[in-house]
Amino acid sequence: MKIDGKAWRTIWLEEGAQQGGDAIGVIDQTLLPHRFTTRTLTSCDQAAEAIRTMVVRGAPLIGVTGAYGLMLALQADPSDVALAVAFEQLNATRPTAVNLRWALERVRDRVAPLPPAERAAAAKAEAAAIAEEDVAMCEAIGEHGLRLFQELAAARPAERRDQPFNVLTHCNAGWIATVDWGTALAPIYKAHRAGLAIHVWVDETRPRNQGASLTAWELAREGVPHTVIVDNAGGHLMQHGQVDAVIVGTDRTTRRGDVCNKIGTYLKALAAHDNGVPFYVALPASTIDWTIDDGVAEIPIEARSAAEVTHIQGRAADGAITSVQLIPDGSSGFNPAFDVTPARLVTALITERGVAAASEAGLRGVYGTDPGSTAGCAIAQLC
Ligand code: MRU
Repeated sequence: MKIDGKAWRTIWLEEGAQQGGDAIGVIDQTLLPHRFTTRTLTSCDQAAEAIRTMVVRGAPLIGVTGAYGLMLALQADPSDVALAVAFEQLNATRPTAVNLRWALERVRDRVAPLPPAERAAAAKAEAAAIAEEDVAMCEAIGEHGLRLFQELAAARPAERRDQPFNVLTHCNAGWIATVDWGTALAPIYKAHRAGLAIHVWVDETRPRNQGASLTAWELAREGVPHTVIVDNAGGHLMQHGQVDAVIVGTDRTTRRGDVCNKIGTYLKALAAHDNGVPFYVALPASTIDWTIDDGVAEIPIEARSAAEVTHIQGRAADGAITSVQLIPDGSSGFNPAFDVTPARLVTALITERGVAAASEAGLRGVYGTDPGSTAGCAIAQLC
């Protein structure tokens, strides 16, 4: 996507940027929306730290960063031991988004059988392939979601068809959560470019405010009409007919279609269900965990620092980016970063292969019975 007229991706290879190897460039998301800066990652340690501290974030982007992190590790030391240590280091950074494990396993499985001297080059090729596939999958999600939005907009009662199509989203599942396009925001960008009058309600998404800081920033850059709301406003808007559809991303989707996403997503799904508002989840194949069924019982939920709850970051009047305390001295905070929305509350999953029911049958219907091969098929299938 473009920033001030220049096309960007969230992550890129800086070939030959250091003695004996490459580096990775990323957009630093911790300073957005107030400051746009990039960082160069030159080691596996730095890649792991960037994921852990959310310089990069969003399930697909975490996966691609992990893949390039393994490449950096192997450029420094291609031994079996170094590969195993780097894999564990990167995999431990953020436990909920399954794309990370998926991408790391894909690179490891590709390079492990090779002689050490060939591993770094193979890791580089595999990481680049994962990045390109992510772009293709997200764009395909956008196309499928666009058609769905057009149908929903046209099916509205006649008296509402001259209103913008109102979509509510939670957290940031836009292009900066992926390599490009995004998952939940890809259909919104496609719809806006196709001329559908669309307006987005952006949940601020406490505690880290990925909605207010990142989704709003992205939508503003693309000129998509949007309004930031507090997380508690969605139910009220749905009760008053101001939301035509909810669309969110996901960090892990189980075989039966349970969806784990940013904390607060479940409450939006409950409100949508109660008000008859369709609730969609956009996801690439890399976000599906085919090994588990019950998301509530089986998905590890990342507990982040309570400081993200007790404090908030913003821009002061003098332009400085600063953090202020919100709660009384002596009170404590608790910060589960994700929750699980059961499949029964999900109207449909929008995948790169099409729109599927949130069930094992629905997912098998688009991915077939050999899910192990799905990621590699994404481009051939759709692009
Ligand atoms: O903690 P974050 O900011 O990495 O969480 C991101 C989300 O929850 C996104 O909605 C999810 O990763 C889907 S991104 C395409």
